[in-house]
Amino acid sequence: MKEKKRNEISVLLDYAGSYKVLTYVGLVLSAIAMVLGTLPYICIWLVVRDLIAVAPQWTKATEVTRYGVLAFVFAFGGIIVYFAALMCTHLSAFRTASNIRKKGMKHLMKTPLGFFDTHASGYLRNRLDGAASDTETLLAHNMADMSGTIAMFITMLVLMFMFDWRMGAACFMAALVSIIAMSSMMGGKNASLMMEYQSAQDVMSKAGTEYVRGIPVVKVFQQTVYSFKAFKQAIEDYSAKAEKYTVGVCQMPQAVNLTVTEGAFIFLAPVAIFIAPSEIRNGSFATFITNFAFYAVFSAIISTALAKIMFAAGGTMMAQTAVARFNEVMNAPVLEITDNPKEPQGNTVEFKDVSFTYEGSGSPALSHVSFKVKGGQTVALVGPSGGGKTTAASLIPRFWDATEGAVEIGGVNVKDTDPHVLMSRVAFVFQNNRLFKTSILENVRIARRQATREEVLAALEAAQCKDILEKLEKGVDTVIGTEGTYLSGGEQQRVALARAILKDAPIVVLDEATAFADPENEVLIQKALSTLMKDKTVIMIAHRLSTVVGADRIIVLDNGEVVEQGKHEELVNNNGLYSKMWEDYNKAVKWKISASEEVR
Ligand SMILES: Nc1ncnc2c1ncn2[C@@H]1O[C@H](COP(=O)(O)OP(=O)(O)OP(=O)(O)O)[C@@H](O)[C@H]1O
Ligand SMILES: [Mg+2]
Repeated sequence: MKEKKRNEISVLLDYAGSYKVLTYVGLVLSAIAMVLGTLPYICIWLVVRDLIAVAPQWTKATEVTRYGVLAFVFAFGGIIVYFAALMCTHLSAFRTASNIRKKGMKHLMKTPLGFFDTHASGYLRNRLDGAASDTETLLAHNMADMSGTIAMFITMLVLMFMFDWRMGAACFMAALVSIIAMSSMMGGKNASLMMEYQSAQDVMSKAGTEYVRGIPVVKVFQQTVYSFKAFKQAIEDYSAKAEKYTVGVCQMPQAVNLTVTEGAFIFLAPVAIFIAPSEIRNGSFATFITNFAFYAVFSAIISTALAKIMFAAGGTMMAQTAVARFNEVMNAPVLEITDNPKEPQGNTVEFKDVSFTYEGSGSPALSHVSFKVKGGQTVALVGPSGGGKTTAASLIPRFWDATEGAVEIGGVNVKDTDPHVLMSRVAFVFQNNRLFKTSILENVRIARRQATREEVLAALEAAQCKDILEKLEKGVDTVIGTEGTYLSGGEQQRVALARAILKDAPIVVLDEATAFADPENEVLIQKALSTLMKDKTVIMIAHRLSTVVGADRIIVLDNGEVVEQGKHEELVNNNGLYSKMWEDYNKAVKWKISASEEVR
């Protein structure tokens, strides 16, 4: 059976918990405040009516003072009640927004880390922020306004027919025509045109951001005209859609709407002229004049009231976007966390017939990969670019989970371990290390929060970072990324190695740790690595084969499959992919040496 789609506002209100009732109280109070707010105008009108009735013997108007006091009481009461209403809606709104944030963050914490490689990490957080702050504004302000507007609309209808139904009907006609005109702009097939127009606006703003972001690349490749094309296209598309909607759809209804609301008088005047003679004949001309005065003023405020109603309708749209954004966050995949975690025995790492396919990809990045690394051994993953090395390594700390087969640590499937235990057992040095915009000390201490300053310094020294600290004025307290302090690729890798050394986890996963280092850095990095790898189970990915020669086992990955595995000597004699890679590597080294000799 199809589940009935729930109203978005009530979906959001579920997050208010026990504060939900405050929202309802707030809405009722806001409605009362709005009614109270209109009463002083009626009092004023009553004063005018009395004065006209007794004119010119003003002293006969005895009720004037009473009306004045009442007007004041109503106005003041209205303000106080409105204040209380906002207090209630705000309290509930804050609670709801904070619950939405908490729930979303909890979900994101369980999302596999690998997910954030393909989905910019800030994106979902922004979505969550947007959903929460929209909900807050919606519940705190818009809903209160909406309920006030509804109350105002009802009061308006009552007032319209209270004094003279004929003139009331004239004013009502104006309102009716305006409502029909407004809904024709937003209903039926025009709604889809409006959506198209709004989404073209989104596309344009995205294309604008893309364009600005791409400027450095564009300049380097001198592609100005080409890159501007997409942005220009988006702008043109937007103006076409905007014109189609505003000129094609809105022009007539909006013209009618403005005419009748701003000039509601044109409905009122003929009616008044029509009924005036009979009123004079009946001798109730004074009442007629005062009623007419009332409706003349009333017709002038119709436009403001209707505009408010139109504005309040936007609240439903806001709730829809908030719910859609929140759902986007909640739809991010999560890692399943076991209820009965098993304790790994020892530090072996084993891949048992592991296959893995990235979401949305047609072919597997890994297929039927099996290998074993005993505790304390070093295994090197090598192979051509795109072979699946990084993918294989990232299954160990559960950046992703294997689609088929099992990755085991100490004989236990990583899925069956407590995530905290897993994280404490594995240190990961990424292909592109991320240093945070904080001091070097804190950047390293992330690996082990309770480490002392001395321990951090020792780790930095072991990671050969002495030269980095020495050249910085504030040493280890220098904040990275400020005052022109940026570290080179090789330097960043050494700081990242210090992190891993400080963590002192028994299993170390290194992804291309020597990738973009200059010779000087490389020597230092090699030294740091040997400290880090001492007595550890190591899974190492390296492009420079010199670093993998000493490994206990070399796994050659090509196209996601293990094509060869064994020790360096065995593989060299195997005449397979590895021996070819080794040959190429040696040629490159020779070429480098002879080139440097020529320079001399
Ligand atoms: N986040 C991802 N989403 C989709 N496909 C991916 C993702 N990361 C990698 N791939 C694909 O998976 C395959 C294996 O990639 P992987 O990064 O594991 O290769 P690699 O051996 O580490 O390459 P390199 O030596 O260049 O680092 C490639 O075809 C790649 O395009
Ligand atoms: Mg890689």
